[in-house]
Amino acid sequence: MDKKEMPVAVFDSGMGGISVLREAVNLMPCEDYIYYGDSKHAPYGTKTLEEVRELTISHIDYLVKEGVKAVVIACNTATSAAVRVLREKYKDMPVIGIEPAIKPAVYYKENSTILVMATPMTLSLEKFNRLMKSYEHMADIIPVPCPGLVEFIEEGDLDGEDVKDYLHEIFLPYREKGFDSVVLGCTHYPLIRGIIQKAAGENVKLFDGGEGTAKELKRRLAEKNLLQDADRKGKIVFKNSLEDKVSLSAYLFKM
Ligand code: DGL
Repeated sequence: MDKKEMPVAVFDSGMGGISVLREAVNLMPCEDYIYYGDSKHAPYGTKTLEEVRELTISHIDYLVKEGVKAVVIACNTATSAAVRVLREKYKDMPVIGIEPAIKPAVYYKENSTILVMATPMTLSLEKFNRLMKSYEHMADIIPVPCPGLVEFIEEGDLDGEDVKDYLHEIFLPYREKGFDSVVLGCTHYPLIRGIIQKAAGENVKLFDGGEGTAKELKRRLAEKNLLQDADRKGKIVFKNSLEDKVSLSAYLFKM
């Protein structure tokens, strides 16, 4: 098989990476994709660094063995924990990670207040802290860990009262001072963008890294001459470490 014809792997701890997959398919509908969610072990964001690194590497190893031309780690937590090791391991393959979209938020409005919602692990690791430091002279950047939020989404609870109450509580401490934008620093969160927008306030601008990641994937495929011919329609195969989550993945993708 010509390498160009191989699928792109998109990996997440569960359902979240579907928000990135949507962007990739929008931009490159002619590609084939394998989406793999590790819902059996989700959430990753409250595990230890070693656990997340091991889980991520073993799933990417599996996907590479299946035969893929590129890997997208569509999970901020897994990227922070394992992207460096994976790039070392798969030197000849594009390995694309995702990180909280702080840069566009900073440039959106001068001296603004930016809340960065993400998992406790993403926000505690060096990768994020370096990113935040490089922009903190331009904006007031406030990390907002959201333990427990991923679980609602994994269960398919996308707009229940519990998740709405959770979001209300999350934004409460920042109401008085006010905030201009919110970075969705976990790929699960764009799947509930509507209720996050409502809870944050209609004037607050939301940012996520999905589109940027899809563009980076396209750039990296083009660079290696690995883009599919444009006149075909690609297909998507959904896989999950929990068999009964496969149909939820396909449903969320179409939503
Ligand atoms: N979707 C993942 C992210 O972008 C994390 C979810 C989890 O905690 O498993 O960080």
